[in-house]
Amino acid sequence: MRIDIMTLFPEMFSGVFCQSIIGRAVGRGLVDIRVHDFREYAHDKHHTVDDYPYGGGAGMVLKPEPLFESVEAVLENVEGQRVGPVNHRIVLLTPQGQPFTQGIARGLSTCDEVVLICGHYEGVDERVRQHLITNEISIGDYVLTGGELPAMVVTDAICRLIPGVLGASEAAADDSFSNGLLQFPQYTRPPMYRGWSVPEVLLSGNHAEIARWRKEESLKRTRERRPELLDKAQPCLDSEAVAGPIS
Ligand code: ADE
Repeated sequence: MRIDIMTLFPEMFSGVFCQSIIGRAVGRGLVDIRVHDFREYAHDKHHTVDDYPYGGGAGMVLKPEPLFESVEAVLENVEGQRVGPVNHRIVLLTPQGQPFTQGIARGLSTCDEVVLICGHYEGVDERVRQHLITNEISIGDYVLTGGELPAMVVTDAICRLIPGVLGASEAAADDSFSNGLLQFPQYTRPPMYRGWSVPEVLLSGNHAEIARWRKEESLKRTRERRPELLDKAQPCLDSEAVAGPIS
């Protein structure tokens, strides 16, 4: 899979994708992450990427030409490297976008190519929204100074779902949200610390009992912290024939 990030601040990404699990995935060729400065596609000698809004008002708007032309250059490059059609998404990071979820990350992780556009200033020319991008994503109901941190968040969430990126010990299957619920409590050694003990069932070696305990704890935690998730998780819970009512 390939991820291309279009930004005015490429230095912000230096080092971010060289570390830890994502760094290892890049090193093993499981994902190809490239960062591009779309200022290079500006048309004038001052490399202007933004301009005043038609109709007046505060702030600047990102011009269409550098965004269209940088993304088209990237897609041509991707198509040149592959035989057959490329399953791609062109995503604008913006507070006006669809709230980012594990489900969206899962969908994006199955694409051949994802282009992430980091917005800035007051926004982008509406023609970019209408004729270039395929999706708009927000990472939460707050406003950041730009789309760079959201692009890092989205890239990380996608990459760890690519087959082979997580080892068995880091498996994504038990994560919060992978089954629509929050994760159950985890413990490690020592079995007793400052008088606080690990739940007996986890030391029992009885895998069926451990699985049951984890499912119950997962439900309890979700009910306490994020009850609204239970409505969405219901079909998947029903299919697993969970005993007892969930609310
Ligand atoms: N750009 C600024 N704030 C953002 C947010 N919350 N999500 C995505 N992109 C953004």
